[in-house]
Amino acid sequence: MIVFTEKLKIQSHISSQKLNKVTFGFVPTMGALHEGHLSLVSKALTENDICVVSIFVNPTQFDNAEDLKKYPRTLDKDIELLKTVSHNIIVYAPAVEDIYEGNTKAEHFSFDGLEHEMEGKFRDGHFDGVGTIVKRLFEIVKPNNAYFGEKDFQQLAIIKKLVEKYNIPVNVKGCAIYREPSGLAYSSRNERLKPNYKIAAPFIFKTLTTAKEQFGTKSAKQVTEWVTKQFAKNNLLELEYFIIADEVTLKPVKRKSKSKNYRAFVAVYADDIRLIDNIALN
Ligand code: PAJ
Repeated sequence: MIVFTEKLKIQSHISSQKLNKVTFGFVPTMGALHEGHLSLVSKALTENDICVVSIFVNPTQFDNAEDLKKYPRTLDKDIELLKTVSHNIIVYAPAVEDIYEGNTKAEHFSFDGLEHEMEGKFRDGHFDGVGTIVKRLFEIVKPNNAYFGEKDFQQLAIIKKLVEKYNIPVNVKGCAIYREPSGLAYSSRNERLKPNYKIAAPFIFKTLTTAKEQFGTKSAKQVTEWVTKQFAKNNLLELEYFIIADEVTLKPVKRKSKSKNYRAFVAVYADDIRLIDNIALN
């Protein structure tokens, strides 16, 4: 496994390999790797010769300085974990300077309104930061395929829009949410949950699963009211939002249409840890 910290070095390595027709899959991450990340890496390795994994805690996508400071940084452990998966992996773990060159600011993007829904309402400037880093990483790595988790479904939709708008030559592939046996979606933040919150957190997926069952016969409004009640009764989990939205526009559903696909999205606070999850409804 090769670990690069400088963009010029990884760029020249990849471009020389491409002359030999080597194909590259790319999995961008912020590190603190877990099974969810590894499921993306495994998929990339089945579809490409080499998987590039970037590990970079991107400062411009955090709207909260404390969250950025507390974000786990475990590079050595991450590299060891990746070695257990395959040796056909290249790690790119740059310093902030290598990416931002002294100007740690996000560019401003329009993603045709996708950025104003859900996470966009609660995390100011978040998707400008995500767009900025992913666009730069695509320019550096120039992968054939790039893999993103449906765990961050809105982010996946926004990356597809970014690629379309800027004509970036990469196939963006969505990957299913990988869950702990309890149903809790793997997340770097789970490590920070205190034991009683860790026990409480699978309630999120359980509630989503029942919401999905109910959506067969009830309206989005009725399901939303039911979910809101369940969280109100839970002493440990505080609901930030529950929204049933059109999978394409991400706009909240007003009246169900048979020709559209819907998804339920949720953000919950477990103490000071913010968790998100979602489920396909049809
Ligand atoms: P991060 O939270 O580290 O996630 C990296 C990738 O792993 C994302 O595509 C995310 O959706 C996926 N992922 C996380 N948990 C998952 C799970 N349980 N199942 C399936 N996929 C999962 O998302 C980011 O980093 C950043 O915003 C990034 C795209 C790297 C830009 O900085």
